[in-house]
Amino acid sequence: MKIGIIGSGNVGSALGKIWAAKGHEVMFSSRHPEKIIDLAESAAKNACFGLPEEAAKFGDVIVLAVPWSQAENALKSAGSLEGKILIDCINPLKPDYSGLAVGFTTSAAEEDAKVAKGAKVVKAFNTTFAVLMASESRMFGDTSPTGFYCGDDAAAKAIVSDLIRDTGLDPIDAGPLEMARCLEPLAFLMIDLAFNQKMGTNIALRLLKR
Ligand SMILES: NC(=O)c1ccc[n+]([C@@H]2O[C@H](COP(=O)([O-])OP(=O)(O)OC[C@H]3O[C@@H](n4cnc5c(N)ncnc54)[C@H](OP(=O)(O)O)[C@@H]3O)[C@@H](O)[C@H]2O)c1
Repeated sequence: MKIGIIGSGNVGSALGKIWAAKGHEVMFSSRHPEKIIDLAESAAKNACFGLPEEAAKFGDVIVLAVPWSQAENALKSAGSLEGKILIDCINPLKPDYSGLAVGFTTSAAEEDAKVAKGAKVVKAFNTTFAVLMASESRMFGDTSPTGFYCGDDAAAKAIVSDLIRDTGLDPIDAGPLEMARCLEPLAFLMIDLAFNQKMGTNIALRLLKR
């Protein structure tokens, strides 16, 4: 796949490196591209870098991994994402991390879908800490964490499911995009466990079934 990364911070850089190593073509982006020359060079040969609007044009799949406060700006300056798959990794945290800024009757993913008109939005990677994605392996012993995702376009979800599997997570379809109203609070639980309950970020979710 051709993947454009908007927001090459903790999340975007880790995901892009994994996918480049798996043979996907990846364009990392920054509003100051000179900052990410080293990132692109440290990834596999099929990675390049540019401005966010260039990454948006480059990718068939676009990853949105910017702070919630910047999501609308980032999408508007990216230009048209019509027909593209947009992976929304965002957790819409309040500035003081005390809760979710959008409440429970909508979600960042649904709000971003209103801005990115015509894009096939899939929520994914928001419940997994970036440090895990950046570490050598996603495994906890013999167990891989669950990578929940949701969205309204079945073909887009099938592609994102494969991309989740490429990262070493076990993809689980959580339903329509509206289920981001559950996945985003789930990420907030993980953040609270990591920081307020002092478990640290070397934790992950696994869905059990029998
Ligand atoms: N950190 C985690 O463990 C984690 C896990 C799951 C989900 N998330 C979510 O993923 C998102 C990214 O988190 P992160 O930790 O990767 O953040 P981060 O390290 O701060 O990176 C965010 C990136 O967004 C870019 N950015 C900011 N405003 C932008 C704009 N208007 N247009 C284009 N790019 C812009 C910045 O790039 P430039 O300044 O170089 O342009 C920056 O590198 C957040 O919404 C977070 O809630 C985080």
